[in-house]
Amino acid sequence: MTKQPNIYIETYGCQMNVYDSELVKSICAGRGYGLADTVDEADVVLLNTCAIRERAHLKIYGRLQRLKRAKVEKGLTIGILGCMAQNLKEDLLDGHDQVDFVAGPDSYRELPDLIDAARGIGRGPDAALKLSRTETYSGVDPIRSGGVNAWLAVMRGCDNMCTFCVVPYTRGRERSRDPQGVVDEVKALVGEGYKQVTLLGQNVNSYRHGETRFADLMRMVGDVDGVERVRFTSPHPKDFPVELIDAIAEHPNLCKHIHLPLQAGNDRVLDLMRRTYTNAAFRELAATIRERIPGGGLTTDIIVGFPTETAAEYEETRTLMEDLRFDSAFIFKYSERKGTVAQRRLDDDVPEEEKTRRIVELVALQKQITGEINEALVGTTQRVLVEEASDRRPGDFLCRTDSFKTTVVPGDGLVAGDIADVEIVDSYGATLFGRPLSAAPRASSG
Ligand code: 5AD
Ligand code: SF4
Repeated sequence: MTKQPNIYIETYGCQMNVYDSELVKSICAGRGYGLADTVDEADVVLLNTCAIRERAHLKIYGRLQRLKRAKVEKGLTIGILGCMAQNLKEDLLDGHDQVDFVAGPDSYRELPDLIDAARGIGRGPDAALKLSRTETYSGVDPIRSGGVNAWLAVMRGCDNMCTFCVVPYTRGRERSRDPQGVVDEVKALVGEGYKQVTLLGQNVNSYRHGETRFADLMRMVGDVDGVERVRFTSPHPKDFPVELIDAIAEHPNLCKHIHLPLQAGNDRVLDLMRRTYTNAAFRELAATIRERIPGGGLTTDIIVGFPTETAAEYEETRTLMEDLRFDSAFIFKYSERKGTVAQRRLDDDVPEEEKTRRIVELVALQKQITGEINEALVGTTQRVLVEEASDRRPGDFLCRTDSFKTTVVPGDGLVAGDIADVEIVDSYGATLFGRPLSAAPRASSG
């Protein structure tokens, strides 16, 4: 009998991909394959890829180039998983002879068969890309990498069809997991020592299973004995009822941080993006969040240079950022994606230099705002979760406030997983520096 292969998996892109890689490890281990820690020890290398912007693709093509030698010398088998596999099958299989097979995000149960076929054991296809309306991988027990936080996908796919976004084409339609299954998994995670659970979904707050909506699910998860902190990503502003804001405001274990992707400030551009809200509606939602969750973190995503966005329209994004003062923001240049409505119907006509001008300006603006908000926290007491030892500052720990701000704290007597009250003594850019006051009592009864 042929020896079972060792699998090495490398992950690119979002947290959902991190989680999916944990599912893939479990599926591979279930077939008896070994899990390698390095490429050198591997017989099969899997790249779990992202397709959100062109740069994500370029990274993978660069990586494939660098794997070429190992492939020739060691006879490595190479598989491409994830969103880029789903989106660029022909290019990957026909244009890159290093690639042995591709598998999209809904096809991971078929992976062992693809791997075996690629290694000449049995016969099978070199691509599995069917998108599913039902696959949630429930029943697959992820092999997590440990630490303080556990990722947990509660829904998959996206029905929003924002015109710039490739995700509906790579991850398919929305489907939600049964809430009881989620709660049982969270209980098990607490038993394994995880302190924080982050609920994931491409459009996580559209979660709906029977009568259970996302706000209900958040409360159910927050109520699990021993779970210290519950976070979620990534939501869409269209599914933000006041019940959800109140659940976060009221429940001690639901973190006071909301990531609310704005994308653009001008109504015509928002409409072209098919975001289904206006500048005024977004302002109102942000105001409600700030009012009901005082001291909470509010962060966002912005795209500059969407097709036809004029300089005056872009100014509305800037003004909105000045007015709403997000705690932090991810800012991107528009990147045309194959198959999207924007790519089919609109000309990518904002010149590269103009996109650069806009992004540079917004990054500087946000840096200033983040700095000012954080500076004002010096002297306050914050409750942090100790996440891990700092690589850069030996002896220090990287912690997070409830509102999601990174806080560096000297490690005297701390261990990862502790909850501690710290006094903020300094702030530098996006980072806070704290001094431990006490180890706090556990936030819940666990
Ligand atoms: N170009 C640039 N940014 C994009 N995003 C999604 N699609 C694109 C694209 N085609 C950004 C959005 C989203 C974040 C995850 O990535 O801001 O919220
Ligand atoms: Fe990238 Fe989006 Fe796919 Fe995540 S869901 S891997 S961000 S394209």
